[in-house]
Amino acid sequence: MNIILLGPPGAGKGTQAHRLVAQHGMRQLSTGDMLRAAVKAQTPVGMEAKAIMDRGELVSDEIVSALIDAELAAMPDATGAIFDGYPRTRAQAEQLDELLAKHGRKLDRVIELQVDEDALVDRITGRFTCAKCGEGYHDRHKQPATEGVCDKCGSTEFKRRPDDNEETVRHRMQVYRSETAPILPYYEEQGLVSRVDGMGSITDVTESIDALIAD
Ligand code: AP5
Repeated sequence: MNIILLGPPGAGKGTQAHRLVAQHGMRQLSTGDMLRAAVKAQTPVGMEAKAIMDRGELVSDEIVSALIDAELAAMPDATGAIFDGYPRTRAQAEQLDELLAKHGRKLDRVIELQVDEDALVDRITGRFTCAKCGEGYHDRHKQPATEGVCDKCGSTEFKRRPDDNEETVRHRMQVYRSETAPILPYYEEQGLVSRVDGMGSITDVTESIDALIAD
């Protein structure tokens, strides 16, 4: 199964993708994660992307689609893909169609996480992750069981994203509304869109997505 998780910054795409990976053995293809890895490794793509990401703008369609192409090429045919944060523009949606055809796949569902934007600012500005294993936490909603120690791997180092400040988050949301939300009709015309209430608990959202996948 190949699915797109669509929703504004902080909607829970990454959180839910991690859970789908753990439960269904699917592969998360997050262009945000790929770009952050490129920034960290100081590759040419990372050098070009860093300032754009810090401003909350979109990296070029060609760059992100090339990243997805490479990931799909390296994946076993039987492993399902979860597209997280991609596509984000109409051009990317069309490029994804071409890539899926090239790699012998088809899109099964587009799951839109519906959320209240004001709550998202709180979600994102409180977010931090384990620097070692990437487990996600939140200042108010999900602290490690032992303060300062990752529940999953025991590391004591955590990190925050440079684009997770309120001003950039609000700009990222504006970009979502103007560039990304307009691709929904493209998928609606194909009968692929399902909507999930993203304001429930993390577990409730997972259950709603699971029900759609099992359908
Ligand atoms: P990207 O990394 O994709 O960021 P984003 O879309 O802004 O999404 P986030 O990762 O912020 O949110 P999320 O929906 O994954 O939420 P999460 O699960 O973490 O992109 C970053 C940048 O890279 C872009 O701005 C752009 O510059 C560039 N980029 C990436 N892809 C691109 C593309 N295709 N084209 C062009 N440029 C691209 O959850 C957030 C927090 O909420 C967490 O703390 C979590 O624990 C908590 N939470 C989650 N669900 C719940 C819940 N149900 N209840 C309570 N708390 C919850």
